[in-house]
Amino acid sequence: MKILVTGAAGFIGFSFSENILKNTEIQIIGIDNLNPYYDVKLKEKRLDILKGFKNFKFFDEDIINYEELDEIFNLEKPDLIVHLAAQAGVRYSLENPHVYEYSNNLGTLNIFELAKKYGIKRVIFASSSSVYGGNEKTPFLESDNVDKPVSLYAATKKYNELIAHVYNHLYGIEMIGLRFFTVYGEFGRPDMAYWKFTKNILEEKPIDVYNYGKMKRDFTYISDIVEGIKSAVFLSKKIDYEIFNLGGDNPIELEYMISLIEKETGKKAIKNYLPVQEGDVLITMADLTKSKENLKYYPNICIEEGIKRFVKWYIQNRY
Ligand SMILES: NC(=O)c1ccc[n+]([C@@H]2O[C@H](COP(=O)([O-])OP(=O)(O)OC[C@H]3O[C@@H](n4cnc5c(N)ncnc54)[C@H](O)[C@@H]3O)[C@@H](O)[C@H]2O)c1
Repeated sequence: MKILVTGAAGFIGFSFSENILKNTEIQIIGIDNLNPYYDVKLKEKRLDILKGFKNFKFFDEDIINYEELDEIFNLEKPDLIVHLAAQAGVRYSLENPHVYEYSNNLGTLNIFELAKKYGIKRVIFASSSSVYGGNEKTPFLESDNVDKPVSLYAATKKYNELIAHVYNHLYGIEMIGLRFFTVYGEFGRPDMAYWKFTKNILEEKPIDVYNYGKMKRDFTYISDIVEGIKSAVFLSKKIDYEIFNLGGDNPIELEYMISLIEKETGKKAIKNYLPVQEGDVLITMADLTKSKENLKYYPNICIEEGIKRFVKWYIQNRY
């Protein structure tokens, strides 16, 4: 079996690929454009690890380039796609709207078109909890109305879900969309709050705490997300089009997360309290009934353990 992973040098793409390469004989074909949204050295470091496996092959390519992607598909003939490449980040989409249009919308369209052209049976793609927008009803259910996104990033993820439905309806490609909820952990993303907080607390610099620390997030540890993606990959029953929440099953306040980082670093945070930022939502909380039933997805790393592992990794690798 050959799996094509887009965004393979990214946080989740790397973590998923490494797990598959370590534990199976499956071949991974990675694609990533190594864009400089955050420290490219971190992406290169992840890639170096993946390149240590004989079953890994990498293409430095932008998914907006249809012709070049076509050549890769023609050469590699993958059996299944895990599509994770995207311009991530809610706040960045306020200032850089066009890159979201290119990478998330056009890029995804290209991947789905090539899945059609090369007769690929199943595509698993990354959606996001941000599609729930200002949903005030918690927990968030996959069947909730998600027609009112509050950021361009969220709107592109909703668009991905919509066109996935079209490609299933018209061409019968099995489409599985995974709505990830605030993923964190080793080899994570430097643009995310848990990383910035850890860095600044260790360096005794102030941290910006939005919504006065009252924001609640359903933080999900990376190994749980990897298990969720693997379940979608190996699911034996036939799927048409399905969306699944992958959350941590326990939303916590930002303030609590900061206290855990303080405990693990042994340092006190210097907090700069700020109002809520535009485009941000106040709470995310996944209903996992559907994922538990269909994907046997049971997240098992609690925030206390996850932050402990992350801070340990950060101190050893980045500090
Ligand atoms: N991390 C989270 O909390 C989270 C939450 C919800 C959804 N997601 C989604 O999960 C997926 C993976 O996220 P991540 O946290 O690993 O982010 P990431 O930024 O670490 O990984 C994405 C990778 O895609 C690559 N990429 C971006 N645009 C590209 C393009 N046009 N062509 C080729 N490669 C491109 C980037 O270089 C990067 O390595 C994304 O689709 C993201 O929107 C992530």
